Amino acid sequence: MQRLAPALQQDDVSLELISLIKTILAATKEISFRVGQGHLGGLLGSTLDENIQGEIQKKLDVVANELFKDIILESGFVKAISSEEEDTSVAGNENGKFLVSFDPLDGSSNIDVNSLIGTIFSIHKAPKDMSADDPDMFKQAGHKQICAGYVLYGPSTMLAMTTGKGTHFYVLDRTYGGYLLVERNVQITKDTQEFSINMSNQRFWQSEMKNYVNDLLLGKNGVRNKDYNMRWLGAMVGDVHRVLCRGGIFAYPSDSRDVNKPNKLRLMYEANPMAFLIEQAGGLCVTREGRIMDIEPIDIHQRVEVILGSINEVKACLKYYD
Ligand code: AHG
Ligand code: MN
Ligand code: MN
Repeated sequence: MQRLAPALQQDDVSLELISLIKTILAATKEISFRVGQGHLGGLLGSTLDENIQGEIQKKLDVVANELFKDIILESGFVKAISSEEEDTSVAGNENGKFLVSFDPLDGSSNIDVNSLIGTIFSIHKAPKDMSADDPDMFKQAGHKQICAGYVLYGPSTMLAMTTGKGTHFYVLDRTYGGYLLVERNVQITKDTQEFSINMSNQRFWQSEMKNYVNDLLLGKNGVRNKDYNMRWLGAMVGDVHRVLCRGGIFAYPSDSRDVNKPNKLRLMYEANPMAFLIEQAGGLCVTREGRIMDIEPIDIHQRVEVILGSINEVKACLKYYD
C-alpha cells in the first residue's frame, strides 16, 4: 500500500510542503475522530455566535477551525492562514513559505443529522515582500495554488488531494493512523446523466440556468435526449466527491434571493481548491464568464458562481449563456 505518494513524490514538491501537508492531515485526523464521536463528543448543536458571513456557527465549525488554525500556525511553515470562520487572515511565521486557506467544516447544516461533512484546504506560496499580517497576500488566483484537497468525514474518512499532477484519493486507515492511496489519477467521466443543484432556488435563478435545468428535467422527451437523475447533499465536499467518483454536474448559480449576496460559495476556500481537484481530474470548473481559477481575488471571503464537473455537460450548460 502506498501512503501519501504519489501526490508528494514529485520533483517540485519540497520537503517543507510535504511537512505542511502532513501537518494539515494530522489536524483532519483529529477532526475525523471528533466527528466520529457524534452525540458522545458534546460537539453537536450551535454556538450563539455568527461568523463574518452572518451565519450562525456550529460548535463543530468553531472547534474544527481552532484545531486547524493552531496546528497549522504552530508548524512554522505558514506565513498566514485564512478561514471561513476568521474575519480576516491570521498571521503566522514571518519567514513561513506558505499561505493556507481553509473551510474547516463544510456542510455545517449536516452536522446535527449525522450526514456528510468535510474540510477543504488550499495552499499558495507566500509572497516574500509582504508582511505576515497583510491579508492582501491572499489575493492570488486559483491557478497559483500549489496544493489543494478535501477530507470527507463519511462512512470512511477520505482525502482527495492534488499538487498539480493528477488528483488522487486516499482513505484514513485507523489501524496505521495515516492516509493510504486508494486511487491514483482519478478521471471524471466526460458525459453524465446526473446533476446536482439546489432546486428550491429555481425561481430565483436567471433565465439561462432555468432553461438548462428545464431541458435536463425533460429528459428523453427534450433536446438533451437522455434522462437525468438528481442528487444534492448540502455539502459541497460530498457532491464534488461524487462527481469525481462517477461524473456529474454540480452547480451553485447566481440567484436573486438577496441582492447583496448573489452567490453562495466562497472563492478562496471552496471554489478554487475544488476547481484545482476537478481540473486535475479532467473536468471543468467555471462561472458563466470563464475559468474559476483565473479569477483575481479581491477579498478573502468573496463569493462566486460555480458550475463544475463532467466536461461535456459543463460545456452543454455554458451554451445556454452564449
Ligand atoms: P458551509 O457549511 O461551509 O457554510 O458550506 C455550505 C455550502 C456548500 O457546502 C453546499 O454545497 C452549500 O453551501 C449548500 O447550500 P444549500 O444550503 O443551498 O443547500
Ligand atoms: Mn463550505
Ligand atoms: Mn464551513
